[in-house]
Amino acid sequence: MSEAIKPIEDNLEEINIFDQELMKCPHAFYKKLRDEAPVYQDPNTGIFQVSKHELICEAARNAKVFSNDFGALQRDGGSDVYPQEAAEIMEKDGYPAVNTMLTADPPRHTKYRSLVDKAFTPKRVSDMGPAIEEKTNFIIDQFIEDGKCEVATQLAQPLPIRVIAEALGASTDDYEFFRISSQAFTDQLSGTSTPEEHIEIAKKLVKFQQYFAERLDEKAKNPTDDILSDLATLEFEDENDVTRKMETPEQLSIIQQLLVAGNATTAHSITEAIKLLIENPDQMELVVNDHSLIPNMIEESLRLLTPTNNMWRIATEDTELGGVAIPAGSALLLRYGSGNRDEDLFENPDKFDVTRKNARRHVAFGQGIHVCLGMNLSRKEMYTAFPIILDRLKNMRFTEKNDFNYSPNVLLRGLDSLNIEFDKA
Ligand code: HEM
Repeated sequence: MSEAIKPIEDNLEEINIFDQELMKCPHAFYKKLRDEAPVYQDPNTGIFQVSKHELICEAARNAKVFSNDFGALQRDGGSDVYPQEAAEIMEKDGYPAVNTMLTADPPRHTKYRSLVDKAFTPKRVSDMGPAIEEKTNFIIDQFIEDGKCEVATQLAQPLPIRVIAEALGASTDDYEFFRISSQAFTDQLSGTSTPEEHIEIAKKLVKFQQYFAERLDEKAKNPTDDILSDLATLEFEDENDVTRKMETPEQLSIIQQLLVAGNATTAHSITEAIKLLIENPDQMELVVNDHSLIPNMIEESLRLLTPTNNMWRIATEDTELGGVAIPAGSALLLRYGSGNRDEDLFENPDKFDVTRKNARRHVAFGQGIHVCLGMNLSRKEMYTAFPIILDRLKNMRFTEKNDFNYSPNVLLRGLDSLNIEFDKA
């Protein structure tokens, strides 16, 4: 079975790209873009939409012309409703936003990225396997006796939050605080928050910043073997070639990215993989009987969901992409979720096929210099957790409670909740 995708009837120029229903299920819109205008300037917002796999890669690999200096766009999701009061809360009690990795261009980007990359080398991530196994079992132990669970909050969110909290060197006792902060950042990106919601988000972000500023202070005095201690103590060469320690706003910007970029995305991927397996019993049977298919099943789920469905770019000069002129200063949305269903690369692209040969060619982790820093970790978490999930939660099935609602968000995509029952092994 594959998701039923009804063709879209409206003309492209009639479509509101920030419509919440469209964000929840964008596939028909994406197909129309790919078929009719692979690089399309939305007449209402002026934002260019890039929807073909090849063109997305071309833009993502050309960081000089397509810049990631989109911090301001990211703050209000391009929606232009960010209230002065939220800015004042951040200014008065918080730390200023600085561009470090995601929203920085070279040479600045390179300096921060090479420092943080050291924390996520394949070897370091591979060593985390036993801890991930232990956490997955602990999380399942909390609900297995019930014979049912809500996958997003009881299984999929706790795993990446606990893993990154431990890697940072923060206490997993503060799990609920990390979950709420992480959600606040995700909401901020959504492009759907009202001014009142932005004010509430700002209050949560200030608490997050104050919490981590204190932890960084402690680690500077008593360093241990973790990422917070590295950030607090290591010297790095900045973009002006000055060797120095990082300042608090830089440290906080990095921590924020590690917590946010990794949590919602990995959690959404785990939830979606379980949904796809239940929806497709033939595919479930294949992976249950042959666990060596699990990595490819994960890649195929990442392809179909694309948790980071879109990402911003800003043109630094007059340029062209796919034969379409793009003036300097234009905003673009790279539609990773569309590239991952591009029929020129993926045969029968809406189908969930755990044996698909080229599933891993998806762009769910991006491309070029900003390619996901946490992809090794995220893969390790999912490749490790799924054999345990499939072994311990037998015969998974939906309960009647599900509405299969995807949160509307300009950048991210994922299910709010997923209620399942299972037989305990
Ligand atoms: C399924 C899980 C994940 C998905 C789908 C995902 C997706 C992405 C994508 C598409 C980008 C590129 C953004 C761009 O084009 O500008 C990115 C960048 C990034 N990701 Fe992930 N990510 C995931 C997990 C993680 C994890 C676990 C971490 C951290 C522990 C992480 C940290 C980052 C950071 C820091 C960047 C910015 C890198 C840079 O600009 O150099 N991500 N991610």
